[in-house]
Amino acid sequence: MGRELRTVGIVGLGAMGSGIAQLAIEAGFETIGREVELGRAEGARDTIAHFLTRKVEKGTLEQAARDEAVGRLRLATDLADLADCDIVVEAAFEELGVKHALFRELEAVVRDDTILASNTSALSVTEIASVLTRPERAVGMHFFNPPL
Ligand SMILES: NC(=O)c1ccc[n+]([C@@H]2O[C@H](COP(=O)([O-])OP(=O)(O)OC[C@H]3O[C@@H](n4cnc5c(N)ncnc54)[C@H](O)[C@@H]3O)[C@@H](O)[C@H]2O)c1
Repeated sequence: MGRELRTVGIVGLGAMGSGIAQLAIEAGFETIGREVELGRAEGARDTIAHFLTRKVEKGTLEQAARDEAVGRLRLATDLADLADCDIVVEAAFEELGVKHALFRELEAVVRDDTILASNTSALSVTEIASVLTRPERAVGMHFFNPPL
């Protein structure tokens, strides 16, 4: 039987990660966005909140739904804050070393059944997953730009 996903972690809230985070909160997932500095994370949240406000202004989203969505996004700089996520989507820089370091660190903090996804454009997911003790938990989840 399938497992229900409730909590989504996003690592890197740049062009792609912030769009993926917006999708996740609009879809009703509790979402935790991790950036290297809190200021960057707050900037991404401001951008997401702005886009959702624009949807309210255009009449495609209710104000209450917008407010609830924004309230579902938590920010983090510590990877350990993603410990309870059912799935973590990595959207950091397109560098194998960065993704290897993140996957190693993530596997040390999340549950054994947490899915680790990479939004990589061109790197091998098998290669990214090669540093994991449980490489079978890794998936490629490529969003096109913009993810919305
Ligand atoms: N931009 C595109 O059109 C596009 C499309 C599909 C996939 N992708 C892929 O998505 C990924 C992200 O691309 P992007 O365009 O959003 O890049 P970006 O440079 O806009 O954003 C990357 C973000 O990751 C953050 N970051 C870096 N290391 C981190 C770490 N250790 N922990 C947390 N945050 C970290 C950076 O501060 C930055 O905000 C890449 O793998 C890229 O190849 C990009």
